[in-house]
Amino acid sequence: MSTSTIAPNPSTSNPEPILQSGDPPSMPETNDKLSIRVRDLNLWYGDFQALKDVNIDIRKGIITGLIGPSGCGKTTLLRCFNRINERYEGVKTTGDIEILDKNIYDSDVTSRQLRRRIGMVFQRPNPLPISIYDNVLFGANLHKTHKQLTRRERNDVVQQALEQVALWDTVKDKLKTRATTLTLEQQQKLCIARLIPLKPDVILMDEPCSALDAEGIEQVEGLIESLRDDYTVVIVTHNMAQARRATDECIFMLMGKIIEHSSTADMFLNPREEQTEMYIQGRYG
Ligand SMILES: Nc1ncnc2c1ncn2[C@@H]1O[C@H](COP(=O)(O)OP(=O)(O)OP(=O)(O)O)[C@@H](O)[C@H]1O
Ligand SMILES: [Mg+2]
Repeated sequence: MSTSTIAPNPSTSNPEPILQSGDPPSMPETNDKLSIRVRDLNLWYGDFQALKDVNIDIRKGIITGLIGPSGCGKTTLLRCFNRINERYEGVKTTGDIEILDKNIYDSDVTSRQLRRRIGMVFQRPNPLPISIYDNVLFGANLHKTHKQLTRRERNDVVQQALEQVALWDTVKDKLKTRATTLTLEQQQKLCIARLIPLKPDVILMDEPCSALDAEGIEQVEGLIESLRDDYTVVIVTHNMAQARRATDECIFMLMGKIIEHSSTADMFLNPREEQTEMYIQGRYG
């Protein structure tokens, strides 16, 4: 069994629990340093076991990188955190995942609640073919979180979200333009912006820069950096330079197992495991 061992987290934000008022009570115990706690997680696609005895603690308010060779289970693990894997037929999971001290497999947690609290950004930007303005408010409208707001207040929400992703100056005069007319980098920023009105606790990113050119990568990395402290970010990347630059801690996976979880500096300068060293030196695929 692999278990991550990580120093305590100094950051303490105070996000809402996954369950909202009016929902049944959540688990009493709290741990204000951890965002995601995974215990004995196994996942099978049919007969194929893609995750094996995964145990990890992901700290709140930092950027954690998930690295490892193609097919090692990075995306599968990420998709466990918002239960997207359940959309696929023949998926079986055992073990527990707690996010902010609430077991996400509990019967009183709906996937709708979960996906509000845990935002996801994909490899290719996927804005909806509606206006930039409506994209930013789409999640908020879906979850009816901003129903009571006046038009002016909604405008403020849109502006703040676009400012946070450094897109406001570029798009403020064309908010009614279709989002799909933006460059890929701008679209990816918009996909991050549309999570912000929902104030998610965790933002999952699956290779968010893989469709971008060098300038786009730099811009989006800067944006990810700006999310630190306010959000817990888990980012999958194949780009080792990016993992070094953009993350605080890294988790190295191999064939469905966690091999090593440490601070990014330790992982790249002093890897504990030989397999980690081989991977970061480019000796795995
Ligand atoms: N829906 C699915 N059905 C069956 N097998 C799957 C499914 N999704 C992934 N797998 C298999 O599970 C394993 C882990 O896949 P996963 O996509 O999580 O890897 P990954 O580390 O994200 O790889 P990459 O770096 O190429 O994105 C692979 O062997 C893959 O073929
Ligand atoms: Mg993947």
